[in-house]
Amino acid sequence: CGIVGYIGNRKAYPILIEGLRRLEYRGYDSAGIALLADNELEVYKQVGKVADLEVVVPDTEHRQTLGVAHTRWATHGEATTDNAHPHYSFSKDIAVVHNGIIENYMMIKRRLLDAGYKFRSETDTEVIVNLIESERKQGKVSLELAVNKALQQVHGAYALAVLSKSEPEKMIVARKGSPLAIGLGVENKEFFVASDAIPIVEYTQDLIYLNDNEVAVLERGKKVEVKDIYGKVKNYKIKHIDLDMNMVTKGEYEHFMLKEIFEQPNTIANTIFSHLSDNDDRIYFEGLEELKKQLSKARRIIIVACGTSWHSGLIGEYLIEELARVPVEVEYASEFRYRNPIVREDDIVLAISQSGETADTLAALRYSKEQGATTFAVCNVYGSSMARECDFTAYTYAGVEIGVASTKAFTAQVAVLTMLAIAMGVENNILDDNRAVALITELRHIPELVEKTLQTDKAIEKIAKEFLDVNSFLYLGRGINFPIALEGALKLKEISYIHAEGYPAAEMKHGPIAMIDESLPTLIVGTNEAFYEKIVSNAQEVKARKGTIVAVVNEGDTELAAMADYVLTVPKVDELLQPILVAIPLHLFSYHIAVMKGCNVDQPRNLAKSVTVE
Ligand code: G6P
Repeated sequence: CGIVGYIGNRKAYPILIEGLRRLEYRGYDSAGIALLADNELEVYKQVGKVADLEVVVPDTEHRQTLGVAHTRWATHGEATTDNAHPHYSFSKDIAVVHNGIIENYMMIKRRLLDAGYKFRSETDTEVIVNLIESERKQGKVSLELAVNKALQQVHGAYALAVLSKSEPEKMIVARKGSPLAIGLGVENKEFFVASDAIPIVEYTQDLIYLNDNEVAVLERGKKVEVKDIYGKVKNYKIKHIDLDMNMVTKGEYEHFMLKEIFEQPNTIANTIFSHLSDNDDRIYFEGLEELKKQLSKARRIIIVACGTSWHSGLIGEYLIEELARVPVEVEYASEFRYRNPIVREDDIVLAISQSGETADTLAALRYSKEQGATTFAVCNVYGSSMARECDFTAYTYAGVEIGVASTKAFTAQVAVLTMLAIAMGVENNILDDNRAVALITELRHIPELVEKTLQTDKAIEKIAKEFLDVNSFLYLGRGINFPIALEGALKLKEISYIHAEGYPAAEMKHGPIAMIDESLPTLIVGTNEAFYEKIVSNAQEVKARKGTIVAVVNEGDTELAAMADYVLTVPKVDELLQPILVAIPLHLFSYHIAVMKGCNVDQPRNLAKSVTVE
């Protein structure tokens, strides 16, 4: 979900609506806005997109200079207008927008119902706003104190922005487990609030990122005060961020997803060259030296991640085991955290996440930290929770990723993992210098090869056109390209709603082969040199059952290319570097199918960019 808020001397409405548009990628089931002035709280909400919300907001001048807004990804309660945020208290004095989940909301709700409160929605958020109101009335205390008292009672995660008719010069914001940034306007005269920097950077680049259990009071004309939920004053840092506005607009592209796919020569180059010295091919990461020491003791590396990031984790496993001979386990963060996993002090736990905020990955990381493991994050968002909480962070420099289905962040993650594996291999004396230098030299050329691969876009689009009516797709790969088959299948599902399954090519005969006939096409990644003949045999098995084949092959391939019905090509590189290149035709293939089917590729149904709930 996304939060945006404003208090200052400008009109809040245009800032909030534009902010919501920028945040829509974080959730888009419903949207709402609350504006406050002259003892009047106006609240507008609507199911659907921000554009739908604008239709229900009266077309008058909105003079209010204080307001909050929200775009929702439903958790508690369906996507209905009543369940949309902002929620306001029983007496309509207080309004709240909230990201996260309050776990003990039922218990609090029962208490409030007994006290005579009535509820308009099924949400946990409406419980918080009424709890604040009840604390305020019972104790006859200020809004700030009432917020504190309420937060002392709730369990769960939140980023909150609260405003009240009784204290119209203030906005109170709080964070626990869900990100919240405060943008500082000129001379404390105005403040911007948002769940990430994107809706704010247009106005200010000086931000305060709240830490967990912190509450900030934003009052017109006064300096920000950050406290804990018991009122103890805390220090804060102002971070100056440098975000290029081109990153957050589509430019000449029809969709963010396409723009982000085409940005990859730059994003991969930024990522590689940020971790590589110009003259001597030395790889560096924050904390690499300590990590190296740790590595010599590490019995294994546990990778935790979700979604597309989990796929880069699987590629990381191949890379690290191959190049550094350190055992790696890759875990779905959600499964790992709930199954009483064995984590020891000499384990290194590596979290991979674009956002750095995914709730399950963060929880897996915190658990590992408690067990004494060394924690390491590969993460794209500067200052995100994972980056702050891990012992070490290696950033991917993919820039802001807005398309909900991850593309450029994925290839940047794979680039970082490749470099990490090389660095570990050298450290462990597994990788000889010549092989390391050869890999790094080839890695330096990857951005150009990505550029070259992108030039096949038109050919990919033409092939995609042939598959608009299929119900299901099988993706096969072997070795380091097996996770790429999983990623290709996931991307097709996510954005085109065509069912797709990724499988290890050899494992196909133990199940999926039963499904193959003229109606089930198969995409085979056939770029591996090591098992090339075996992949060709797998393709034969599909062909023999009248299955249609789309093959991804190296330039110059003849055998598999001749057998396939459709061919996508990538430049030939070392097998360990192939996943980055193969991802490109696979992502573009899904993109074109989805666009031709009329799907909203940037905001696929039911998905959200950053899942900060369990
Ligand atoms: C959501 C997104 C995916 C992403 C996953 C993990 O499901 O839609 O694109 O891969 O979360 O997100 P993270 O930010 O942790 O990489």
